Amino acid sequence: MAKLALVTGGMGGIGTAICRALADDGHKVVTTEFKEAIPPEKWLAGQAADGYEFEAVTMDVSSFEEVEKASNEIKEKFGSPDVLVNNAGITRDGLLHKMTSDQWQAVLRTNLDSLFNVTRQFINEMRDKGWGRIVNIASINGQKGQFGQANYSAAKAGVHGFTMALAQESARKGITVNSVAPGYTATPMVTAMREDVIEKIVAQIPMGRLAEVNEIAAIVRFLCSDQAAFISGANIPINGAQFTSH
Ligand code: CAA
Repeated sequence: MAKLALVTGGMGGIGTAICRALADDGHKVVTTEFKEAIPPEKWLAGQAADGYEFEAVTMDVSSFEEVEKASNEIKEKFGSPDVLVNNAGITRDGLLHKMTSDQWQAVLRTNLDSLFNVTRQFINEMRDKGWGRIVNIASINGQKGQFGQANYSAAKAGVHGFTMALAQESARKGITVNSVAPGYTATPMVTAMREDVIEKIVAQIPMGRLAEVNEIAAIVRFLCSDQAAFISGANIPINGAQFTSH
């Protein structure tokens, strides 16, 4: 049976690849947009031109009230998702001794609170159905910490804490909950960094290159499939051996 998937932040680099990979696997895909770099209509039209028909709703994942409103709209229009990929995330890099409260709050609210805000809307329907797949996009920097990212590293470490707790709570309900921890990936989030910083980071990756978005999406697709039924509470690293080199 075709499943309904919700991918937050699907108009970004990794998000778009995940939307497409899930569609390739037969899912109907709804995504969320908020302050996108390109207008959502343009993104949807571009995807349609490539043969991908996606639905999009506006959702500020950092606000419980906004998420509740948008989730009700999703439920009315499409039903409650069987698959949820908590992908929306931002960076506000800076050294802690110079970091503002706004930089801290924005990253924690968007990258971590969002998991509660969004998952809380749909978890009961998954429990009732006795089937669900939740994948949370963490990061290598939540595993090793990153200079200039106390906010992001804390949030992404928290993502996996959330995953492990919810995996246990959901284990008897046919719902798996996993994290995927991408390393540095060829997306606008990474290429927005200073060139000298990117060069130094790539030099630390044993494979000597950034990840491709499809290399992340392929794992998410598998975790959302029936075959992955016994994988839950995991945090899958995809980082060209960078984690092992520290
Ligand atoms: N370890 C130790 N020292 C370091 C360092 C490191 N990794 N990086 C920089 N330094 C040193 C610098 O050499 C510099 O030393 P001096 O003062 O002696 O010259 C000092 O620390 C300050 O560094 P910057 O000049 O870089 O400081 P800045 O305030 O200009 O910039 C920053 C700070 C914006 C955080 C910048 O360092 C930076 O962009 N760092 C990388 C952050 C990063 O990796 N972001 C990842 C974004 S992508 C992502 O998050 C996706 C994902 O999941 C992987």
